[in-house]
Amino acid sequence: MDDYSIIDVIRSRYSCRSFQNKPISDQLKSELLKYAEENNAGPFGTHSRFHLGQVTSGLAILRRLNTYGFINGTDEFLVGVTTKCTDQLELEEFGYVLEKIILKATALGLGTCWMGGTFRKSVFSNLIGLKENESLPAVIAIGYPAEKKRRTDRMIRKFAKSDHRRAWERLFFYESFDTPLKKEETGKFTTALEMLRLAPSASNKQPWNIVKSDNSWHFYLRRTHGYQDQPILAKTGKADLQRIDIGIAMSHFDMTLLESKIIGKWVIDNPKITLPDDLTEYKISWVPKNSLSNPNK
Ligand SMILES: Cc1cc2nc3c(=O)[nH]c(=O)nc-3n(C[C@H](O)[C@H](O)[C@H](O)COP(=O)(O)O)c2cc1C
Repeated sequence: MDDYSIIDVIRSRYSCRSFQNKPISDQLKSELLKYAEENNAGPFGTHSRFHLGQVTSGLAILRRLNTYGFINGTDEFLVGVTTKCTDQLELEEFGYVLEKIILKATALGLGTCWMGGTFRKSVFSNLIGLKENESLPAVIAIGYPAEKKRRTDRMIRKFAKSDHRRAWERLFFYESFDTPLKKEETGKFTTALEMLRLAPSASNKQPWNIVKSDNSWHFYLRRTHGYQDQPILAKTGKADLQRIDIGIAMSHFDMTLLESKIIGKWVIDNPKITLPDDLTEYKISWVPKNSLSNPNK
């Protein structure tokens, strides 16, 4: 991807909540928006559109409405909307596309923070001119990152355990959910899985389970018990954030593979592996382009 390493970019990304109080330069803005326009379709073609704008009144609202998000030093937001459609993967595709744009922003030196649970929809709907056939699942706080994190930031990170990721064996499996996938046996896919593990997720719940079977990587959403029933989400009609998390994980996996020139494609082809519980559902699979060859070699 361009002239930077996606691995470095993924490693340097974090949810930035303290910014420098400095408007983003026109040049960076147009570079980012150009990228957003060129990369606005998910693997199955669901289109999203984006707007980068100022939401001064929204900030005040954010502060009042805030649960665990607290943004300081920017009033610029990247607002994204996706087309409401019957495709069951529109939210996953939205997450996929928007995380790609976030990684581009990171590469440009900008700080970002997904806001899925803590933003007021009406303010942002007006900003982007939300149409009837569109939904607005999340917005991104964006700007130049402050050099030092505030105390509040550190508290939020501690509360969400943001610096931790689930152990490898709780995320990746081989053939069935009973057999953890050994890292030593992931061959040239190790880095892509590591990069997936570093992906952001709502409340850092990391609801991803990936099962390797034959040469394919099957992505499952393993929901956090009670997460979607949180009062704040129910009250504000917020999107199903854990579906967005799946798309985010897909983009980290996919972009890392692309950089290593490991080519494959996304398909929906449920391998019907026995599920561990009723919180877990099959979503999508990544298959190597030539699935007859052994991709680990
Ligand atoms: C879909 C989604 C929604 C999120 N919503 C919020 C939010 O409303 N407020 C907030 O402060 N952080 C939010 N986050 C950021 C997560 O808390 C953060 O990604 C996680 O704790 C991991 O930390 P990291 O991004 O620094 O690696 C959200 C992240 C995702 C992916």
